[in-house]
Order: sequence, then structure tokens, then C-alpha cells
Amino acid sequence: MISYIAVKHIHVTCAALSISLFLLRGVLMLRHSAMLQQRWLKITPHVVDTLLLASALTMVAWSAQYPFVQSWLTAKVLALLAYIVLGMIALKRGKTASIRLMAFIAALLVFAYIVAVAITRQALVFS
Ligand code: HEM
Repeated sequence: MISYIAVKHIHVTCAALSISLFLLRGVLMLRHSAMLQQRWLKITPHVVDTLLLASALTMVAWSAQYPFVQSWLTAKVLALLAYIVLGMIALKRGKTASIRLMAFIAALLVFAYIVAVAITRQALVFS
């Protein structure tokens, strides 16, 4: 059976892939590139993000540390929701170029916060 460490490796690898793909799509969006419409660039992020979440849920269950019980996991779930919404505004729904750019930068900052929470296991990473 797959070990906890292996699931954690999958989780961290998916996190790295997720931000790399988001950065790539963000740069293409800022350059108004037609490459953004490529099929693999639309499908791969969904596959990666599904694996990221599935591995997160597996570790939550196996370690019996739950969101809305452990504050650092609550912070990760809420920040993940913010990252998804900001990502949608940046890549799809933002009406103007400046709204998209601001949402893109905010999504990157939220992602950095999620990684900081993961490493420190504290919601208030700057305290
Ligand atoms: C964009 C979203 C996410 C990113 C970038 C991310 C990143 C990371 C990273 C880098 C680690 C390894 C930390 C370390 O040991 O140094 C980690 C571990 C972990 N993450 Fe995530 N994560 C994300 C979403 C989530 C979500 C939504 C949950 C749960 C609801 C979650 C639950 C966990 C758990 C349980 C661990 C393992 C802690 C341990 O046993 O050492 N993650 N995450």
C-alpha cells in the first residue's frame, strides 16, 4: 500500500506543478497569447489540482488532523478557495487587463501564504 510519505511527495509535486502551470498561463494571458487556448493547457491544471486536493484529503484522513479543528488546515482550505477564485478572475473572468493583473499577483501571494502555512503549520505565519 502507498505510504504517507509517498502521498506527501505527490502533494508537494502537484503543488509545484500547479503554481508552474498557473505562472505559465498567467504570462500567456498577459501577452494575449493564443497558446492559452491550447487543449493541454486547459486540461492539465484540472488534473494536477484534483490530485493536489485528493492527496491533501488522503493525508487529512490518515493523520486525523482536520480542517475546522486544526487552524493551519482551516487556513489552507480557505486560502485554497481564495487562490481558485483569484485564479479564475486572472485567467477568465477579469473584465479589464488591470483587474486580471491584480488578481494574478494576489493569487501568487495567496499561494506563497499556503506554502508558508504548510511549512510552519501555523495560520498566522508572520507572528
Ligand atoms: C494550493 C494548495 C496547497 C499547497 C501549495 C500545499 C502545499 C503543501 C506543502 C509544500 C506541504 C509540505 C510541508 C512540509 O512538510 O514541509 C504540504 C503538506 C500538507 N498539506 Fe498541503 N498544500 C495545499 C493544499 C492543501 C489542502 C487544501 C489541505 C487540506 C485540507 C492540505 C493538507 C496538507 C497536509 C495534511 C500536509 C501534510 C503535513 C505533514 O504531515 O507533514 N494541503 N502542503
